[in-house]
Amino acid sequence: MDDLVKNTNERIFITGGKKLHGSVTISGAKNAALPLMALSLIINKGFTLSNVPNLADTRLMLKLLNDLGIQTKWENGKIDFNGLPLNDHASYDLVRQMRASILILGPLLVSQGSAKVPLPGGCAIGSRPIDLHVMVMERLGANIKFESGYIIGSVPSSGLKGAKIDFPKISVGATESAILTAALAKGQTVISNAAQEPEIVDLVNCLNKAGADIMGEGTNKIIINGVKSLNKVHHEVVADRIEAGSFAIASSITMGDVEIKNVIPKNLQFFLKVLENTGSKVEVFKNSINICAFRKPLPYDVTTQEHPGFPTDLQAQYMTLMSLADGNSQITENIFENRFMHVPELIRMGAKISVNKQKATIKGVDYLKAAKVMASDLRASMCLILGGLVALGTSEIDGIYHLDRGYENIVDKLSNLGADIRRSR
Ligand code: EPZ
Repeated sequence: MDDLVKNTNERIFITGGKKLHGSVTISGAKNAALPLMALSLIINKGFTLSNVPNLADTRLMLKLLNDLGIQTKWENGKIDFNGLPLNDHASYDLVRQMRASILILGPLLVSQGSAKVPLPGGCAIGSRPIDLHVMVMERLGANIKFESGYIIGSVPSSGLKGAKIDFPKISVGATESAILTAALAKGQTVISNAAQEPEIVDLVNCLNKAGADIMGEGTNKIIINGVKSLNKVHHEVVADRIEAGSFAIASSITMGDVEIKNVIPKNLQFFLKVLENTGSKVEVFKNSINICAFRKPLPYDVTTQEHPGFPTDLQAQYMTLMSLADGNSQITENIFENRFMHVPELIRMGAKISVNKQKATIKGVDYLKAAKVMASDLRASMCLILGGLVALGTSEIDGIYHLDRGYENIVDKLSNLGADIRRSR
């Protein structure tokens, strides 16, 4: 099967030096849409999602669901889902392309009483284990075994039962797995050390609208009282805070003035404070922010943390900003073990960065120079685009199928803000 993700050999060309001006509207969040789409496996009628970003990853999740027998219609960002899964076996060819496929394990167990899901591989940023997802299923009463690269799950005739789930470490995906699976389990589930990401809050908002009984979302303790079934529901996917943060940095790094619309400012609170500490002017409105900068950024150290701390998904983009800072800064990556692959590419653009385990030290330079660079993962591709926006000359960015996983219409959005950017073979 052709890769639904690695489906382009196009490149992006950017001629740096343009200050970005104007306004941009942020798309729905990939990391909210993916768990929400998995809900279609347990809401068997009248489930509709709007503001779904058209991305390689959401298209892949749709294919995965269609493969399992869910009928879908996707028009203008709105997906109608109908029917329950007709089988419990997810295709290896699809699961291997996207780690978030693991989110279908719990809902398949709930709706089918069994599941056969390929072990998702690791990816560039880390080994990405799924032991916490498996722990969740076992705590809720499922039997899980591994056979030739598959996770084989089955539910006893008595069904799934609510349980205490104490996470030894915070995991966004495993928290989502617990919520997706416990919503229809018998009795109460109490999740401790839960992830607090806004995408989890969005998932719970949708579930409660469909008749679930969940409290504590957005805190580290979530209480779920299982219900018998879920009703039809329409839900609008929350705006993508990582895309918004990426555009905020694009405005700062080009010393532009950009209005970023369709944003929930509180979901970016920590990051916006950091951006202000680098000297950017940040104006916050009800569902938009305005970012402008008039000088080189000031150096400001960050350590990535689970929400509400500095998001790991903005680490690479922030590093590009710090590569032009008026002094030295340090970035510590605490979430993933290998999330500095963008460093050698930024160095090719003239950045001065040294890495020691989880710490990157960035010595600000006066300017970056255009170069041919290769994206290694989704957020690294955005980091290189940000470099291209300010580098002297025309940069060429390869491997942009990574970009298509998580940024909708990024070239149009940036050129509408005045960037000299195009994509072609
Ligand atoms: C989600 O990944 C996001 N993906 C990631 O965004 C994001 O970087 C990450 O959360 C952290 O915020 C989606 O939501 C689809 P984790 P997830 O489970 O759920 C370890 C992007 O760029 N871990 O919170 O996979 C894991 O190795 C992507 O949009 C286990 O040890 O992240 C990591 O070190 C990249 N065992 C840490 O926990 C497990 O069973 C946090 O991972 C699961 C995770």
